[in-house]
Amino acid sequence: MIVIKSAKDIEIMKKAGAIAAGARALAGSMVRPGVELRQIDKAVHQFILSHGAKATFLGYGGYPASCCLSVNEVVIHGIPGNQVLKEGDIVSVDVGATFQGFVGDCADTFPCGAVSQEDEALIRDTRQSFWEAFKIMREGYRIGDIGAAVESYCRSRGYGVVWEYTGHGVGRAMHEDPAIPNLGPAGHGARLKSGMTIAVEPMICQGTGDVHRLSDGWTVKTKDGKKSAHYENTVWITRSDPVILTALAEKPIR
Ligand code: MF3
Ligand code: CO
Repeated sequence: MIVIKSAKDIEIMKKAGAIAAGARALAGSMVRPGVELRQIDKAVHQFILSHGAKATFLGYGGYPASCCLSVNEVVIHGIPGNQVLKEGDIVSVDVGATFQGFVGDCADTFPCGAVSQEDEALIRDTRQSFWEAFKIMREGYRIGDIGAAVESYCRSRGYGVVWEYTGHGVGRAMHEDPAIPNLGPAGHGARLKSGMTIAVEPMICQGTGDVHRLSDGWTVKTKDGKKSAHYENTVWITRSDPVILTALAEKPIR
Protein backbone atom coordinates (compact mmCIF):
# COMPACT_ATOMS: atom_id res chain seq x y z
CA MET A 1 0.00 0.00 0.00
CA ILE A 2 1.41 3.38 -1.02
CA VAL A 3 0.94 6.01 1.72
CA ILE A 4 0.09 9.53 0.53
CA LYS A 5 1.46 12.24 2.83
CA SER A 6 -0.39 15.36 3.97
CA ALA A 7 1.10 18.87 3.88
CA LYS A 8 1.69 18.53 7.63
CA ASP A 9 3.51 15.21 7.15
CA ILE A 10 5.71 16.84 4.52
CA GLU A 11 6.68 19.70 6.88
CA ILE A 12 8.00 17.10 9.33
CA MET A 13 9.66 15.05 6.58
CA LYS A 14 11.54 18.17 5.45
CA LYS A 15 13.03 18.39 8.94
CA ALA A 16 13.85 14.67 9.10
CA GLY A 17 15.40 15.00 5.64
CA ALA A 18 17.45 18.05 6.59
CA ILE A 19 18.87 16.21 9.60
CA ALA A 20 19.76 13.18 7.46
CA ALA A 21 21.32 15.46 4.83
CA GLY A 22 23.31 17.29 7.50
CA ALA A 23 24.61 13.98 8.83
CA ARG A 24 25.55 12.90 5.29
CA ALA A 25 27.46 16.15 4.74
CA LEU A 26 29.21 15.84 8.11
CA ALA A 27 30.27 12.26 7.32
CA GLY A 28 31.48 13.36 3.89
CA SER A 29 33.56 16.15 5.42
CA MET A 30 35.29 13.59 7.65
CA VAL A 31 36.35 11.33 4.77
CA ARG A 32 40.16 11.69 4.61
CA PRO A 33 43.20 9.42 4.90
CA GLY A 34 43.84 8.11 8.43
CA VAL A 35 40.26 8.31 9.71
CA GLU A 36 38.73 5.22 11.30
CA LEU A 37 35.21 4.48 10.07
CA ARG A 38 33.85 4.21 13.61
CA GLN A 39 34.88 7.84 14.28
CA ILE A 40 32.61 8.94 11.45
CA ASP A 41 29.75 6.80 12.73
CA LYS A 42 30.14 8.29 16.20
CA ALA A 43 29.98 11.85 14.85
CA VAL A 44 26.93 10.98 12.74
CA HIS A 45 25.16 9.54 15.78
CA GLN A 46 25.89 12.61 17.90
CA PHE A 47 24.77 14.96 15.11
CA ILE A 48 21.43 13.18 14.72
CA LEU A 49 20.74 13.09 18.47
CA SER A 50 21.72 16.75 18.90
CA HIS A 51 18.97 17.66 16.41
CA GLY A 52 16.30 15.85 18.41
CA ALA A 53 16.13 12.90 16.02
CA LYS A 54 16.98 9.22 16.17
CA ALA A 55 19.35 7.27 13.95
CA THR A 56 16.90 5.25 11.87
CA PHE A 57 19.37 2.50 10.99
CA LEU A 58 20.60 1.81 14.54
CA GLY A 59 18.91 -1.44 15.61
CA TYR A 60 16.94 -1.75 12.34
CA GLY A 61 16.81 -5.51 11.76
CA GLY A 62 19.66 -5.68 14.26
CA TYR A 63 21.93 -3.28 12.31
CA PRO A 64 24.66 -2.24 14.78
CA ALA A 65 25.50 1.35 13.71
CA SER A 66 23.96 4.75 12.92
CA CYS A 67 25.05 4.84 9.28
CA CYS A 68 26.43 2.56 6.59
CA LEU A 69 29.97 3.28 5.38
CA SER A 70 30.80 1.28 2.27
CA VAL A 71 34.37 1.52 0.92
CA ASN A 72 35.42 0.75 -2.69
CA GLU A 73 34.02 -2.69 -3.68
CA VAL A 74 31.54 -2.59 -0.79
CA VAL A 75 28.31 -1.47 -2.45
CA ILE A 76 26.02 -0.87 0.53
CA HIS A 77 25.45 -1.73 4.20
CA GLY A 78 29.13 -1.58 5.20
CA ILE A 79 29.32 -1.61 9.01
CA PRO A 80 31.62 1.15 10.36
CA GLY A 81 34.42 -0.52 12.34
CA ASN A 82 38.17 -0.16 12.80
CA GLN A 83 38.98 0.15 9.09
CA VAL A 84 41.26 3.15 8.48
CA LEU A 85 40.68 5.14 5.28
CA LYS A 86 43.56 5.57 2.84
CA GLU A 87 44.22 7.94 -0.04
CA GLY A 88 42.34 6.84 -3.16
CA ASP A 89 39.45 5.10 -1.38
CA ILE A 90 35.88 6.02 -2.25
CA VAL A 91 33.40 5.95 0.62
CA SER A 92 29.63 5.66 0.35
CA VAL A 93 27.77 7.17 3.30
CA ASP A 94 24.15 6.09 3.82
CA VAL A 95 22.22 7.63 6.72
CA GLY A 96 18.65 7.89 7.99
CA ALA A 97 17.12 10.19 10.62
CA THR A 98 13.74 9.75 12.28
CA PHE A 99 12.21 13.05 13.47
CA GLN A 100 8.75 13.26 15.05
CA GLY A 101 7.92 9.86 13.61
CA PHE A 102 9.05 10.43 10.03
CA VAL A 103 12.17 9.22 8.23
CA GLY A 104 14.64 10.97 5.94
CA ASP A 105 16.97 8.61 4.05
CA CYS A 106 19.95 9.63 1.89
CA ALA A 107 23.36 8.55 0.66
CA ASP A 108 26.33 9.86 -1.28
CA THR A 109 29.84 8.75 -2.21
CA PHE A 110 32.93 10.76 -1.29
CA PRO A 111 36.56 10.57 -2.49
CA CYS A 112 39.26 10.06 0.15
CA GLY A 113 42.01 12.48 -0.81
CA ALA A 114 43.01 12.21 -4.45
CA VAL A 115 41.25 9.42 -6.34
CA SER A 116 41.65 8.13 -9.89
CA GLN A 117 39.84 9.87 -12.75
CA GLU A 118 37.89 6.65 -13.29
CA ASP A 119 36.66 6.69 -9.68
CA GLU A 120 35.83 10.39 -9.84
CA ALA A 121 33.76 9.66 -12.95
CA LEU A 122 31.97 6.79 -11.18
CA ILE A 123 30.93 9.13 -8.36
CA ARG A 124 29.84 11.90 -10.74
CA ASP A 125 27.94 9.56 -13.04
CA THR A 126 26.16 7.82 -10.15
CA ARG A 127 24.93 11.20 -8.86
CA GLN A 128 23.91 12.25 -12.37
CA SER A 129 21.92 9.04 -12.91
CA PHE A 130 19.73 10.13 -9.98
CA TRP A 131 19.28 13.61 -11.50
CA GLU A 132 18.36 12.09 -14.86
CA ALA A 133 15.59 10.12 -13.14
CA PHE A 134 14.63 13.19 -11.07
CA LYS A 135 13.45 14.88 -14.29
CA ILE A 136 10.62 12.35 -14.61
CA MET A 137 9.63 12.08 -10.92
CA ARG A 138 6.33 13.70 -11.79
CA GLU A 139 2.67 12.80 -11.69
CA GLY A 140 1.69 10.43 -14.46
CA TYR A 141 5.06 8.76 -14.91
CA ARG A 142 5.49 5.23 -13.57
CA ILE A 143 7.91 3.69 -11.07
CA GLY A 144 9.48 1.70 -13.93
CA ASP A 145 10.34 4.93 -15.73
CA ILE A 146 12.72 5.82 -12.87
CA GLY A 147 14.70 2.59 -13.22
CA ALA A 148 14.72 2.90 -16.99
CA ALA A 149 16.18 6.42 -16.73
CA VAL A 150 18.93 5.34 -14.30
CA GLU A 151 19.76 2.24 -16.32
CA SER A 152 19.98 3.90 -19.73
CA TYR A 153 22.22 6.68 -18.38
CA CYS A 154 24.57 4.19 -16.69
CA ARG A 155 24.66 1.41 -19.29
CA SER A 156 25.53 3.82 -22.10
CA ARG A 157 28.60 4.76 -20.03
CA GLY A 158 29.64 1.13 -19.50
CA TYR A 159 28.57 0.70 -15.89
CA GLY A 160 26.78 -2.17 -14.19
CA VAL A 161 23.58 -1.44 -12.26
CA VAL A 162 22.77 -3.34 -9.05
CA TRP A 163 19.42 -5.11 -9.39
CA GLU A 164 19.20 -7.01 -6.09
CA TYR A 165 18.62 -3.88 -3.99
CA THR A 166 16.19 -1.08 -4.74
CA GLY A 167 14.90 2.28 -3.63
CA HIS A 168 11.61 2.45 -1.77
CA GLY A 169 8.73 4.50 -0.49
CA VAL A 170 9.59 6.25 2.79
CA GLY A 171 7.51 7.89 5.51
CA ARG A 172 6.71 6.74 9.04
CA ALA A 173 8.57 3.57 8.07
CA MET A 174 11.95 3.62 6.34
CA HIS A 175 10.75 1.05 3.82
CA GLU A 176 7.27 1.58 2.42
CA ASP A 177 5.77 0.57 -0.91
CA PRO A 178 6.62 0.79 -3.70
CA ALA A 179 10.04 -0.80 -4.32
CA ILE A 180 11.94 1.32 -6.84
CA PRO A 181 14.34 -0.69 -9.05
CA ASN A 182 17.30 1.09 -10.66
CA LEU A 183 16.78 -0.77 -13.91
CA GLY A 184 14.12 -2.38 -16.03
CA PRO A 185 11.60 -1.40 -18.69
CA ALA A 186 9.82 1.96 -18.75
CA GLY A 187 6.04 2.08 -18.66
CA HIS A 188 5.58 -0.45 -15.85
CA GLY A 189 4.62 -0.25 -12.18
CA ALA A 190 2.56 2.18 -10.09
CA ARG A 191 1.92 5.69 -11.36
CA LEU A 192 3.59 8.54 -9.49
CA LYS A 193 1.07 10.68 -7.65
CA SER A 194 1.39 13.91 -5.67
CA GLY A 195 1.92 13.24 -1.95
CA MET A 196 4.09 10.18 -2.54
CA THR A 197 7.51 10.28 -0.86
CA ILE A 198 10.16 8.00 -2.31
CA ALA A 199 13.83 7.21 -1.69
CA VAL A 200 15.58 6.77 -5.03
CA GLU A 201 19.04 5.26 -4.70
CA PRO A 202 21.14 4.19 -7.68
CA MET A 203 23.95 1.73 -6.81
CA ILE A 204 26.35 1.77 -9.77
CA CYS A 205 29.42 -0.37 -10.46
CA GLN A 206 32.53 -0.23 -12.65
CA GLY A 207 32.02 -3.96 -13.29
CA THR A 208 28.95 -6.12 -13.79
CA GLY A 209 26.62 -5.00 -11.00
CA ASP A 210 26.38 -8.53 -9.59
CA VAL A 211 26.72 -8.49 -5.80
CA HIS A 212 26.91 -10.86 -2.84
CA ARG A 213 26.35 -10.45 0.88
CA LEU A 214 29.06 -11.36 3.39
CA SER A 215 28.56 -13.73 6.34
CA ASP A 216 28.16 -10.75 8.73
CA GLY A 217 24.64 -10.62 7.28
CA TRP A 218 25.02 -7.01 6.06
CA THR A 219 28.03 -6.07 3.97
CA VAL A 220 27.18 -6.19 0.24
CA LYS A 221 30.14 -6.34 -2.16
CA THR A 222 30.56 -6.54 -5.92
CA LYS A 223 31.25 -10.11 -7.04
CA ASP A 224 34.07 -9.00 -9.34
CA GLY A 225 35.73 -6.80 -6.69
CA LYS A 226 35.33 -3.66 -8.80
CA LYS A 227 34.30 -0.36 -7.21
CA SER A 228 30.78 0.86 -6.68
CA ALA A 229 29.08 4.16 -5.76
CA HIS A 230 25.72 5.04 -4.22
CA TYR A 231 23.60 8.19 -4.26
CA GLU A 232 20.21 8.61 -2.63
CA ASN A 233 17.67 11.29 -1.80
CA THR A 234 14.18 11.26 -0.36
CA VAL A 235 11.89 12.96 -2.91
CA TRP A 236 8.38 14.41 -2.57
CA ILE A 237 6.22 13.98 -5.68
CA THR A 238 4.01 17.05 -6.22
CA ARG A 239 1.58 18.40 -8.84
CA SER A 240 4.55 20.19 -10.42
CA ASP A 241 8.29 19.85 -9.82
CA PRO A 242 9.56 17.12 -7.47
CA VAL A 243 11.14 18.32 -4.21
CA ILE A 244 14.26 16.96 -2.53
CA LEU A 245 13.40 16.39 1.14
CA THR A 246 16.96 15.42 2.07
CA ALA A 247 18.27 18.94 1.46
CA LEU A 248 20.41 20.88 3.93
CA ALA A 249 18.40 23.16 6.21
CA GLU A 250 18.54 26.89 5.46
CA LYS A 251 17.86 27.72 9.10
CA PRO A 252 18.22 25.79 12.38
CA ILE A 253 15.86 22.82 12.54
CA ARG A 254 14.67 23.43 16.12
N1 MF3 B 1 19.27 3.46 2.71
C1 MF3 B 1 19.29 2.04 3.06
C2 MF3 B 1 17.98 1.44 2.65
O1 MF3 B 1 17.17 2.16 2.18
C3 MF3 B 1 19.71 1.86 4.44
C4 MF3 B 1 19.26 0.70 5.21
S1 MF3 B 1 20.52 0.16 6.20
C5 MF3 B 1 19.85 -0.54 7.55
O2 MF3 B 1 17.71 0.27 2.73
F1 MF3 B 1 20.83 -0.92 8.28
F2 MF3 B 1 19.15 0.30 8.20
F3 MF3 B 1 19.12 -1.54 7.19
CO1 CO C 1 17.07 3.90 1.27
